[in-house]
Amino acid sequence: MISVQNLTLSFHHNLILNHLNFHIHPAEIVAIIGASGAGKSTLLRCLNLLEKPKQGKIRIDNFQLDVSCIKRHEIVTFRQQSAMVFQQFNLFQQKNALENVMEGLIVVKKYSKDKAQQIAHEKLVQVGLGERIYHYPKQLSGGQQQRVAIARALAMEPKVLLLDEPTSALDPELVGEVLATIKIAAKSGVTMILVSHEMSFVHDIAARVLFLDKGKIIEDGSPQQIFANPTQQRTKDFLARYYSTGQIDYEI
Ligand SMILES: Nc1ncnc2c1ncn2[C@@H]1O[C@H](COP(=O)(O)OP(=O)(O)OP(=O)(O)O)[C@@H](O)[C@H]1O
Ligand SMILES: [Mg+2]
Repeated sequence: MISVQNLTLSFHHNLILNHLNFHIHPAEIVAIIGASGAGKSTLLRCLNLLEKPKQGKIRIDNFQLDVSCIKRHEIVTFRQQSAMVFQQFNLFQQKNALENVMEGLIVVKKYSKDKAQQIAHEKLVQVGLGERIYHYPKQLSGGQQQRVAIARALAMEPKVLLLDEPTSALDPELVGEVLATIKIAAKSGVTMILVSHEMSFVHDIAARVLFLDKGKIIEDGSPQQIFANPTQQRTKDFLARYYSTGQIDYEI
């Protein structure tokens, strides 16, 4: 379903993604964890072609891309396979919640205004914002804004939903509502790749965890395996602080 082969990217001669390989099955919920600077955001951005890797192949469903020779028309089609939710929501400030969700449906999917409005409304109801469809981002809490962003992503019916630390810009009391929304999205059957530092949530939601270290996946397994029984010292060191703060209950 999603397959990454030999994906490599450097910034200014620094190797950030180092010949990465992995495969994700349809409807699988995968969490990517790792230290700051490990390359997690860069990897997600590559999957959406917001960064251009130096070499490698990315396959999403039936779309296979050799990143060393991308053609212009492939970029548009390939981007439509995924939708991204960012840490900072990235909503249009001058558009209300409904218009934010409608935008991609009209511009990218070329749906009529009526159809876009109907889908946008449905998706906002799904994330619990049916009462706030005419609110502008400024009139919404951070958690509500992030739920609009999730509704916007889901409305595009992506093959894969990419979430980059969707709760880390939120006040602690708003985290729960966004995690609950992500859980609803996960149950809808969309394939999901989630970058998160919320280890208890990762444990709860992910079928599989990839530990990224210096641009390489050095651990790949179920959350139970990785949290309770990491094979690499780097993973143990990384997880240690989550054990000490009680975010993970398992003993190394
Ligand atoms: N546009 C860029 N130009 C140069 N270097 C970059 C750029 N974007 C990221 N980097 C570098 O690439 C490395 C990986 O960054 P990335 O943002 O992917 O890390 P991350 O794992 O998402 O970290 P965090 O947990 O802090 O979000 C870092 O060393 C970062 O400084
Ligand atoms: Mg990041």
